[in-house]
Amino acid sequence: MSDLLTRARKVIPNGVFGHRRSFVFVDGNNNAIPDDYPHFVRQASGCNFTDANGHRYIDYVCGYGAMLVGFANERVDVAATRQINQGLCYSFPSELEVGLAERLVAREQAASWAAFSLNGTDAISVAITTARAATGREGIAVAANAYHGTLGSTSLGPGRVQAERTATRTVRWGCIDSLTETLHAEAVAAVVLCPFEQLVGRPNTMPPEGYWRQVRQACDATGTVLILDDVRSGCRLHPLGSSSAFGIEPDLVCQSKAMANGYPIAATLGTERFRDAAQEIFVSGTFWGFAPALAAALATLDILDEHDGIAHMAAMGRRLTDGLRDLAQSHGFQLNISGPAALPMVLFEDDPQSKLAMEFARHIARSGSLVHPSHNWFLTLAHQQEDIDQTLQHAATAFSKMRQ
Ligand SMILES: Cc1ncc(COP(=O)(O)O)c(C=O)c1O
Repeated sequence: MSDLLTRARKVIPNGVFGHRRSFVFVDGNNNAIPDDYPHFVRQASGCNFTDANGHRYIDYVCGYGAMLVGFANERVDVAATRQINQGLCYSFPSELEVGLAERLVAREQAASWAAFSLNGTDAISVAITTARAATGREGIAVAANAYHGTLGSTSLGPGRVQAERTATRTVRWGCIDSLTETLHAEAVAAVVLCPFEQLVGRPNTMPPEGYWRQVRQACDATGTVLILDDVRSGCRLHPLGSSSAFGIEPDLVCQSKAMANGYPIAATLGTERFRDAAQEIFVSGTFWGFAPALAAALATLDILDEHDGIAHMAAMGRRLTDGLRDLAQSHGFQLNISGPAALPMVLFEDDPQSKLAMEFARHIARSGSLVHPSHNWFLTLAHQQEDIDQTLQHAATAFSKMRQ
């Protein structure tokens, strides 16, 4: 065990707390993070990072999707630094906030307002509170096992009490009958759904034909607010957001992760119908509307648009997944690759516990690429063909090692 991990385990729960415990998702045991998988980062740039032991990796975890145009992107960092030099955390909005709201509203088809917070959980919380204020109802519906952040009403696990979820109903993602039945059985304020099903360790499921149109109809028929959780996939599927990629007509949309290339920011966007409710509720956070992150978001969106980033990430994702599929097959493995090319879910067939995926992640890390065994991978504008081809070489070594 590294010295740093020994020190960390004395003063930090698990040594590596929260979201960053990459391997914990596989079997719930932090000790499962193998020693040859990086624990601590020293430095990162482009699509590479160097761990505390000096090993360099081509990264596909990318801050769980927060990295969009590459680590230490000069243009984004200059924009943020310029803002830092003008002071932090004013408790008053700046022109940047208005500018970014205008920009986001123009990018999300039906939206007419945007409210900023700090992370995806905040954006979901703002949306649910708005929906409850607008409808006067308490309940919410979510898809079974979906992750929408760490709110008590949407989370499960140790330390979470059922009382926090008494107003939460679950539906089967992608099953319109399940949703319609639930919404008609009992009035709820909102249904919170991701644009496609994106569960940890499971193949991503794309919406069945006509699903989103029927979801809209079911919400309209029951007065339910449709909240789209675009936290993970936002900025990666369509210049106008995942709602445009899938033809979704949400009432409220939650964005975060990629929009400021790693600077902490989230936005809840809404249609005109929900402006009054958003104006009535009191929701706030000391650091919400953090000006350097607002500046970083504007620069990130400029780069995304100028470089046709959506098409680039999809092309790089296809090159990677096509190559991986072929390599796996030639080594006698069958991959199960699902989800959009820009954030693929790469699993192995007949591997319900993700054991093979874990072994692969460990071996490919040793060769120099960092992938997640049970979560979506992420492409960025910084990943170029040479990086993908190098990763495919790392993958060939990993598959060979696994065969041995
Ligand atoms: C789909 C989805 N919603 C919400 C969240 C919560 O975002 P955050 O971790 O910024 O609170 C996440 C984070 O991984 C996510 O993937």
